[in-house]
Amino acid sequence: MDVQKRQQIFDQAKEWILEAGTLIRSQMNNPLIVNTKSNRNDLVTQLDKEVELFFTTKIKQKYPNHSILSEEGFGHSLINKTGITWIIDPIDGTMNLVHQRRNFAISIGIYDQEIGEIGFIYDVMYNQLYSAQKNKGAYKNDQQISWLDNELLLEHAMICFNHRWLCENKLVNEKIMQQLVKQVRGVRAYGSAALEFAYVAEGIVDAYITMHLEPWDFAAGKIIVQEVGGKITSISGEEINPFTGTSLLVCHPQIHQKIIDEYLLQAKK
Ligand code: 2AM
Ligand code: CA
Repeated sequence: MDVQKRQQIFDQAKEWILEAGTLIRSQMNNPLIVNTKSNRNDLVTQLDKEVELFFTTKIKQKYPNHSILSEEGFGHSLINKTGITWIIDPIDGTMNLVHQRRNFAISIGIYDQEIGEIGFIYDVMYNQLYSAQKNKGAYKNDQQISWLDNELLLEHAMICFNHRWLCENKLVNEKIMQQLVKQVRGVRAYGSAALEFAYVAEGIVDAYITMHLEPWDFAAGKIIVQEVGGKITSISGEEINPFTGTSLLVCHPQIHQKIIDEYLLQAKK
């Protein structure tokens, strides 16, 4: 993508994201209407829908040739992968929104022919905006985030994953995941995939492991983490496609291969 064109889209997307953040904060004391989707823990509120509609309306008006892939269905049902695509999660971490009224994010990744050009993850309640453009580094607000090139041993690492993988489950051997817990320094679960990507990029956690995410959960995070030298693959070490749901290991480069070889490949059912 032409650098000037990318900067224009970046500036416009940033303006809309900050505006959406103001809209969300202004409604934070209002009651939420909570519904379930695929299962009783898969939540959606009127705010998820309202925020997605806010973005899709603006994008369709200003960039009628761009495609939109978004979680709540206000985007396009057919994506033209030869053009520019906005991949949007209006609220990532809806359960946190419902229970905590914080720790959720707006996540927007913008791709040109499947190449990640622009990523935004906005922690709405803490007003922290993570952003990146291809080959221009990643930022937290106006501060550039450092490249992940420090020495790191797995036993000094803090890693994120959902604790359900420590219980008996269909996807991974929980005994191997328990060994990983014993090996590392600490384990966290933040409940927002987008924020967990942002924390890996920022270097405040060293890995994030998930057994399944959809494109809108990781589209922005992939771009931001890559811009600081982080590694992103499936849990088997394969490259990921931004338009396909996948498992993920998002990681500091020094411990990526070890987690794959010694834990995730062994644990996979
Ligand atoms: P959401 O809040 O946008 O639904 C919670 O561990 C993380 O996983 C959140 O980022 C959440 O996104 C995502 N998530 C929840 N249910 C999911 C599902 N069925 N498929 C993929 N991602 C999911
Ligand atoms: Ca969502």
